[in-house]
Amino acid sequence: MAFSAVRQQGFAAGVGQVASEVVFDRRHGLAAFLPREVSDGVDDPTFRIADAVQYQGVDPRLALRILEMLPMETRSNATFVDYGCGKARGLAVGILAGFRRLVGVEVSRELAALADRNLAVMRRRNPGVDVQIHVMDATRYQPPEGPLVAFLYNPFVGLTLERVVQRLEQHATHHPVWVVYINPRGRSAFLNRGFRERSIFGSSEALLLQSGPECENMETFGMRETLDKGR
Ligand SMILES: C[S@@+](CC[C@H](N)C(=O)[O-])C[C@H]1O[C@@H](n2cnc3c(N)ncnc32)[C@H](O)[C@@H]1O
Repeated sequence: MAFSAVRQQGFAAGVGQVASEVVFDRRHGLAAFLPREVSDGVDDPTFRIADAVQYQGVDPRLALRILEMLPMETRSNATFVDYGCGKARGLAVGILAGFRRLVGVEVSRELAALADRNLAVMRRRNPGVDVQIHVMDATRYQPPEGPLVAFLYNPFVGLTLERVVQRLEQHATHHPVWVVYINPRGRSAFLNRGFRERSIFGSSEALLLQSGPECENMETFGMRETLDKGR
């Protein structure tokens, strides 16, 4: 996110974002800044590398802003799953947003090990919070029963995304499912499987989607939220 920010937002705004990511990482004991290829340390023979997006940490301000739109009840009761958790910056944001049960799914053994190491400070500061890392292809991950918040910072596309969305659609037949999708290259995969857009951030830099039993009655958030880069 940081490197593309310098390219996309211009030098000053891009540098501001890089600085905010570095400050976030320092404050929460993470080393999550540098990008990394996915192919490092992947054992799963069914993994579709052509669908995978390399590791880059999410913009923590944007992620936190979206997660804080979810009702507090959802944040305390739902399982937060970061599909493609990389070095765990998304998980750190999930903890700060108030989730008590979090799962990171990461196909790269090396990235998963870095995620585990990165979470040491957050775990110590939040002893009641349960964070687990699963080293596996996201297509094979079966979410636990109960309400779910799926967090995706553009981790994969293509058939891999289709298979994950299929599982989420299945989950939504019994439980509420929220999806926070940042850099949503595969939004149609969700819209084609019954997910509704609850909020759109900036010029579609991020989406909040929802599906599930209580979806019809839930509050609709403001659409087309303007992104305030200075926050
Ligand atoms: C753009 S990074 C997202 C990082 C992280 N979610 C965050 O918010 O900082 C994408 C991540 O998805 C992982 N990934 C790609 N394909 C995957 C797959 N099929 N299963 C699990 N993880 C995958 C990559 O290794 C990489 O760490």
